[in-house]
Amino acid sequence: MLQCRPLNHTFGAEILDIQLSADMDDATFNEVRQSWADHELLLFRGQDLSEDDLIAFSGRFGKLENHVRQEWLSHDHPEVLVLSNIKVDGKSIGGLANSEINWHYDQIYLPRPAVGSLLFSVAIPLEGGATYFADMCGAYDALPSHLKSKIEGRQAVQSYDNFNTGHSIKTKDAIKKKTPDVTHPIVRVHPITGRPALYVCPGMTTLIVGLDEDESRVILDELFTFSTQPEFIYRHDWQIGDAILWDNACTMHRRDGFDDKYDRLMKRTTILPHEHLAVPV
Ligand SMILES: [Fe+2]
Repeated sequence: MLQCRPLNHTFGAEILDIQLSADMDDATFNEVRQSWADHELLLFRGQDLSEDDLIAFSGRFGKLENHVRQEWLSHDHPEVLVLSNIKVDGKSIGGLANSEINWHYDQIYLPRPAVGSLLFSVAIPLEGGATYFADMCGAYDALPSHLKSKIEGRQAVQSYDNFNTGHSIKTKDAIKKKTPDVTHPIVRVHPITGRPALYVCPGMTTLIVGLDEDESRVILDELFTFSTQPEFIYRHDWQIGDAILWDNACTMHRRDGFDDKYDRLMKRTTILPHEHLAVPV
C-alpha cells in the first residue's frame, strides 16, 4: 500500500518511501498508476536515477517521445530532454536556460500530445526556479456556468511558435515545419477518472475556433485568470533528487526565473499515451 501525503487541497501527492525503478513489481506499479490518475501529480523525493532508470521507469506508462528540439536531447539517450542553463565550451547542454517560463502544457501543440512528463532534478539553484502546477480539473469543476457554456464542445488553436516567441528561443523554420498549429478540445475528459479538465494554457493557446479574435481573447483571458487562482496552484520548491510525474493533460505548469550564476540541470522524459488514454480529437 503506497504511503501518500497530499501536496495541495485539490490535487498532487507525495509518495513516500519508494524508489522508482524498472523492476518495481507490477502491484506497486499499478498502485502508482492509479494514484497518478487520482492525484494528477505525484512527487517522489530522494531519487537516484540514471538516464537508463528514467527511461525504463517512465517507459512502463507508454511509449516515450523524443522532443522536437533535438539540440536539447541527451547525447546518450534521445528520449531524455535536458533542461539546463549550463554551458560547456560555450555551448548550452540543454534548453530553457534560466528565464521565467509562462504557463503551458508540454506538447499541447502536437496532434497527439504527451499525457505524461517525468521531471528529475540533478542540480538546482539556491534561490528561484520554483515550478508551479495548476489543477485544471479543479479549475473546470469550479468554473462559473456562464463560462462553461461558452466553451462547451469548442476547440482551441495551440501554437508552439506563440510559446517560443514569448518565452523561449524563437522557432527556427525547420521546427516550425514540424510543429504547425493544431486544434484540440478545450475540455479534456480524463480517461481513467472521467473528470473534465480545462485544456488551454496562456503560453500556447491562441484562439477559440469559431469565434472572432476579440471574443476569443476575452474568454481565454477569463479562463486563464480563473484557473491560476491560488487555490488551484501547487508550488514546488525543488530539492536534488526530486522526481515529479504529472498528468500533462489536466495540469499546466510554469517556472520562476533564477539567477544565471546558479546551475540548474533537470532531465525529463515525455510519455505518449496509449490510444485509449490520448487527448480526444
Ligand atoms: Fe514544460
